[in-house]
Amino acid sequence: MVGLGKLGLPLAALLATRGFEVVGLDADRRRIDGINAGLVGGSELGLESLIRDAESRLRLEMISDQAIAISDVTFIIVPTPSGPDGRFRNDSVIAAIRQIGNALRATDRYHLVVLVSTVMPTSMTEVIAPALEKAARRKVGDRLGLCYSPEFVALGSVIRDMSRPDLLLIGESDAAAGDLLLGIYRAIIETKPEIHRMNFVNAEICKLAVNSFVTTKISFANMIAEACDHLPSADAEVVLRAAGADSRIGHDYLRGAVGYGGPCFPRDNIAFTLMGRDLGLQFELAAATDATNRHQLQRLCAVIEARAQTGATIAILGMSYKPGTDVIEASQGIALAQAMFDGGFNVLIADPAAAQNAAAILGHGVSVASAAEAVARADVVAIMTQWPQFRNIPMANFMRDKQNITVIDPWRVFKFGELPSSVEHIVLGFGPDAAGEPPPQAYND
Ligand SMILES: NC(=O)c1ccc[n+]([C@@H]2O[C@H](COP(=O)([O-])OP(=O)(O)OC[C@H]3O[C@@H](n4cnc5c(N)ncnc54)[C@H](O)[C@@H]3O)[C@@H](O)[C@H]2O)c1
Repeated sequence: MVGLGKLGLPLAALLATRGFEVVGLDADRRRIDGINAGLVGGSELGLESLIRDAESRLRLEMISDQAIAISDVTFIIVPTPSGPDGRFRNDSVIAAIRQIGNALRATDRYHLVVLVSTVMPTSMTEVIAPALEKAARRKVGDRLGLCYSPEFVALGSVIRDMSRPDLLLIGESDAAAGDLLLGIYRAIIETKPEIHRMNFVNAEICKLAVNSFVTTKISFANMIAEACDHLPSADAEVVLRAAGADSRIGHDYLRGAVGYGGPCFPRDNIAFTLMGRDLGLQFELAAATDATNRHQLQRLCAVIEARAQTGATIAILGMSYKPGTDVIEASQGIALAQAMFDGGFNVLIADPAAAQNAAAILGHGVSVASAAEAVARADVVAIMTQWPQFRNIPMANFMRDKQNITVIDPWRVFKFGELPSSVEHIVLGFGPDAAGEPPPQAYND
């Protein structure tokens, strides 16, 4: 397993618990030492116990030719960060491929290389396969198999998602390579997912298409929610729950709240737009999804700025891009904190897992507090991540002697009537009734 990051380490541990001898390889000594010292990073459910269960079948080492040469299969799960133009960079993949190819020169045995990292369409045939063949001095097909098999997982539930996937996507150089990979997957999957085997370019397009479709669905839900903001007695939750019951639509990710973020959705959708542009096509749908997503921040800022003067204290609860992780990449909470700081507000941030990561990015302009303390000191509270811990904030902390505070609650963490009556509780995607008040019965049904 080359790359022991957020995906590579769980997959390595999962394979080891299913009886494979796994050598986990990374280029970063601190990462290996950290894992060996029990610092697995993130908040991945079940990862620490999985590593314990793997016992001696999981060895962690610096990447070396020797470890690759004794293996039958190498998975590559290294970063493919977006470059300044939005296209994914293959530098780390190529570095890994060259090292694997070099190591394979020392052996005549069949070897399968599986790339899991997300790449731009055509990378496999135009860049990665040629780099492997050059380094290994043998052709793909000649005792050398190559697969592109991206994972569809969400941080926080990576182990569950890897062992219970909806879909196994395998781009394969030939049937023998695909058969071998499928056999390995069968050892870790607990369900009967649809298996889709195909050539490289189809798998590359499919990976981006899935994430672009999901982001479009989220932006569509946010568009409905914004309409509901302005329509008396409208409730986006009621509308979307009904619309999602149509099997052609489905409930998943059909929820109006804040924009999407994280290490995959925003950049995969942008990369999809760029794939279209490279082909001389417009791909306006994917571009509109991105524009709609960026608009969600302005929508939120407008609600706050209508209620708070410059210099007021804004508490932003939730810095991670979603609950259950400390990852803050492209997080809406971070974007809001930055926008509020730039707008001259006094910003307090709180998060059960990601506060320190957020403070490191946002710098000295913002202060870190516990959620309870942030609420106690704020004029406006924005709940950006649906952490269940936020429901434990004492109600007294929302109360003031003199002026009332506003709580903006896009995820509907609190029901109407649950917060003290002095609080202005704003739920996005909810139109005012004729008297300008949201109707609680519509929300609580
Ligand atoms: N994180 C997600 O939710 C997610 C979901 C689907 C797909 N992906 C894709 O998976 C890939 C990896 O993502 P991640 O989140 O696990 O990355 P990560 O940054 O958490 O980990 C990558 C690891 O690879 C190591 N590494 C880098 N170059 C190396 C090299 N040449 N040799 C050996 N080790 C090397 C790094 O030190 C690091 O430990 C990316 O392409 C990403 O787009 C990620």
